[in-house]
Amino acid sequence: MSVLPLTTLTLLILTLISVTSSCTPSDLAALQAFKSTLDEPYLGIFNTWAGTNCCSNWYGISCDPTTGRVADINLRGESEDPIFEKAGRSGYMTGSINPSICKLDRLSTLILADWKGVSGEIPECVVSLSNLRILDLVGNKISGKIPANIGNLQRLTVLNLADNGLTGEIPSSLTKLANMKHLDLSNNMLTGQLPSDFGNLKMLSRALLSKNQLSGAIPSSISVMYRLADLDLSANQISGWLPDWIGSMPVLSTLNLDSNMISGPLPQSLLSSTGLGMLNLSKNAIEGNIPDAFGPKTYFMALDLSYNNLKGPIPSSLSSAAYVGHLDLSHNYLCGPIPVGSPFDHLEASSYSFNDCLCGNPLRAC
Ligand SMILES: *[C@@H]1O[C@H](CO)[C@@H](O)[C@H](O)[C@H]1NC(C)=O
Repeated sequence: MSVLPLTTLTLLILTLISVTSSCTPSDLAALQAFKSTLDEPYLGIFNTWAGTNCCSNWYGISCDPTTGRVADINLRGESEDPIFEKAGRSGYMTGSINPSICKLDRLSTLILADWKGVSGEIPECVVSLSNLRILDLVGNKISGKIPANIGNLQRLTVLNLADNGLTGEIPSSLTKLANMKHLDLSNNMLTGQLPSDFGNLKMLSRALLSKNQLSGAIPSSISVMYRLADLDLSANQISGWLPDWIGSMPVLSTLNLDSNMISGPLPQSLLSSTGLGMLNLSKNAIEGNIPDAFGPKTYFMALDLSYNNLKGPIPSSLSSAAYVGHLDLSHNYLCGPIPVGSPFDHLEASSYSFNDCLCGNPLRAC
């Protein structure tokens, strides 16, 4: 008579144990299918993906402790994990991302980064993973387009697709990602313009888009990105003038626009900005004089205006700058005496070379 309740209790305990250690059958099947289209020959990380306890021993997998559902796939090919040290090498993986991952509907992190060889396209169905916060596929050979409905991933905070072979335009839905903090699409083959409402990405602090084929002007909506600290559009085909507001952005500290087709004058606000510590405008077609806008709060770790069409003198206000770590004014049409001042008297002649007629230390005397 007392056997039945005991059996029930045992069953309950067994159920609880299995919740914490094995995946649900559908998660298990999805991970097995994910593994089936990938090949990692050197480290053997997928050898740990055996049995049914995917939440306990599978390398790179973690589960939500309360639901027992797969929450994170965290597979990085560059890592300090002992498994890499033991093998004495960085990771290499080939194959493609199986659409079965879209069945992991509680997935919050998908990191398959720096494996160098993962190819194929990003399955369009990833946009249904409504819990996804981190999508990081950096450093592979992924091709095709960024899924058009990427904007459905309303919880996304990190989107890193850099160093791949993505083509096509930046999908217009991307600007719906109101929680995104870190966007890195650098070093792909993306074309077209930045979406004009890019500034809707209100939480964005880093926008890294260098080394693509992006064209058009810098959208004015960027002026209201109050958290944007780092904007990198270098090595694209950005054209138009530098907007006046860009030097007045509240927290912008790094602005890299080098190697583009930007023309027009250098706005005063960029040089008088007190927050901007790194400014690279090298290799554009910026023209006119350098505004006399430096001041005691000027603090540039690096200021690179080389390879433009700047003319006239180096403004004397540069002498009042608090600090200029690296200055490059070379390959312009500047002329006149180089100002004297301790914040930059450590600079070498190469900072000033290939101009029309600059003179004074460290160049020849005037
Ligand atoms: C600025 O950009 C140019 C061209 O891309 C690059 O060669 C240079 O090293 C950069 N300057 C700094 C200070 O990083």
